[in-house]
Amino acid sequence: MAVEHTLSIIKPDATRRNLTGKINAVIEEAGLRIVAQKRVALTRAQAEGFYAVHKERSFFGELVDFMISGPVVVQALEGENAVAKYREVMGATNPANADEGTIRKQFAESIEANSVHGSDSLENAAIEISYFFAQTEIVG
Ligand code: CMP
Repeated sequence: MAVEHTLSIIKPDATRRNLTGKINAVIEEAGLRIVAQKRVALTRAQAEGFYAVHKERSFFGELVDFMISGPVVVQALEGENAVAKYREVMGATNPANADEGTIRKQFAESIEANSVHGSDSLENAAIEISYFFAQTEIVG
C-alpha cells in the first residue's frame, strides 16, 4: 500500500447542523490525517465546475443548488490507501445503503444531503485537490 491523498468535502447539511468536528473525529479515528482544510461558500460556478462530470444527470441542478446553500469544508486527507479508505469511512452514497458506523449512516439526511464527498479514484483525487488547494497549502 502507498500513502495517498484524497479530497473530502463536508457538505452544507453537515455544517448547518454543526457536525464538522464529529465528522472529522470519524476521519481521524480511521487513521486519515487532515493535511489541508478551508471553510468556504462555493460560488455557483465553482460548484458547477467541481461536479462537471455530472452535468448531464437529472439531479445536477439540485445538487449545485444544495452545494451553494451553505458553507462547506474542503479538506485534503492523507494516509495509506486514502482514496479507498475514505470511501469506506463515508459509506454508500445513499445513506439508506450505508454500513453501520460510517459517516453517512450516522449523519446523512438523504442521497443529496449526504454530509460528505470523497474522491472516487486516485486520478480524480489529484484533480479535485488541485481544484481547491495549491501544493503549498498541503502540509503533512
Ligand atoms: P457525491 O459523492 O458528492 O457525488 C455526487 C453527488 O450527487 C452525490 O454525492 C450525491 O450527494 C448527489 N446525488 C443527488 N442525487 C443523486 C442520485 N440520484 N444518484 C447519485 N448521486 C446523487
